[in-house]
Amino acid sequence: MKLPFILARRSVAGDTLAAALPVVDEILGDGRFVTLDLLGEHVHDRAQAKAFAQEYVRLIHTLAQRRRGRDANISIKLSMIGQVIDHDFCVANLLTVLAAARETHTFVRLDMEGSDITQSTLDIFEAVYPEYRDYVGVVLQAYLKRTERDVERMCELKARVRLCKGAYAEPPLVAYQDMDTIREKFRRYMKMLLLHARYPGIATHDDELINATKAFVTEAAIDRNDFEFQMLYGLRTETQQAIVEEGYNMRVYVPYGTEWVPYFSRRLRERKENVAFIIKNLFRK
Ligand code: FDA
Repeated sequence: MKLPFILARRSVAGDTLAAALPVVDEILGDGRFVTLDLLGEHVHDRAQAKAFAQEYVRLIHTLAQRRRGRDANISIKLSMIGQVIDHDFCVANLLTVLAAARETHTFVRLDMEGSDITQSTLDIFEAVYPEYRDYVGVVLQAYLKRTERDVERMCELKARVRLCKGAYAEPPLVAYQDMDTIREKFRRYMKMLLLHARYPGIATHDDELINATKAFVTEAAIDRNDFEFQMLYGLRTETQQAIVEEGYNMRVYVPYGTEWVPYFSRRLRERKENVAFIIKNLFRK
C-alpha cells in the first residue's frame, strides 16, 4: 500500500526538493542552520545508488546557490549510495559527492544507521577523511555499547561528530535499553567531544541533555560558536528558536523526498503524540 504524503507532512519538508526549499528558507531566515537530507536507504541496485549520488551532487549545487552566506549543509545515508552493495563502490560514490561539497564549501554529514553497518560507516568515513577533513563528519549513537571507543577515535582524529541517542531497534547485546543509562552515556560523550573533537553537533530534543550541555559549556568556558545543537524538522520549533535567541547555534535536520516511510516510522516509535496525529488524519474526511 502506498501511504499518502499528508501523513508525513509534519516531519518531512516535502516530497520534492522544490517543495522543501521554502522550508529551508524559512529556517535560515530566523537564524537557525539547516542540514538537508534526501530520504532513502538500503538501496541494492547499483544504477539507483549511483543515481542517488548524482542527485546529491545536484542538491549540493542547488543549496550552495540558495543559502547566500547562511549555514546550510547536507546529511546522507551511505546505504543509499552503495554501502550495502560494495565498499569500494560506495566510497567512489561518496567521493563524487564530496568533490561537489568541496567545490561549493558544503559540509556533508554521514548519518548513522543500524548497528549492522556501524563499522562499515566508520571505515568509509576514515577512507575519505584524510582528503576531506573539513567537508565530512559522522554520527555516533549514545545507546551503542561500542560508542565510547568510537568517541575516543573521533577525538583523536579531531573529527566533526553529531551525537544522538540512536533511533534503531537494537538488541541488548549491542545497545543499552534503558533511558537513564543512555542519558548518562550521552552526557559523558558530549563532554568528551566538546573538549577534544571539533565542532560537535549535540542532537537531541531532551531538555535534560540540552541543559546538561549548556551547563558544561559554561563550566568549561567553551565558546558557543564551537558547537551546535541540532533538532529534527517539525519537532519543538519554538524551543529551537528560543535556543537561537539565547545565543547558541541550532541546526535543523530537514528531510525530503518520496522515500519517507522508514524515517517516518522511526519518528512514530519515538513519540506517541505522532501516532495520535496519524490516526486523526487517517480518519479525517
Ligand atoms: P527522546 O525522544 O528520547 O525524548 C526524551 C525527552 O525529550 C522526552 O521525554 C521529552 O521530555 C523531551 N522531548 C522529546 N521530543 C519532544 C517534543 N517533540 N516536544 C517536547 N519534548 C520533547 N538517530 C540515528 O540513529 N542516526 C542518526 O544519524 C540520527 N540523526 C539525527 C539528527 C538529528 C538532528 C536529531 C535531533 C536526531 C537524530 N537521530 C539520529 C535520532 C536520535 O537518535 C533519537 O532517536 C531522537 O532524537 C529521539 O531522542 P531525543 O533525545 O531527541 O528525545
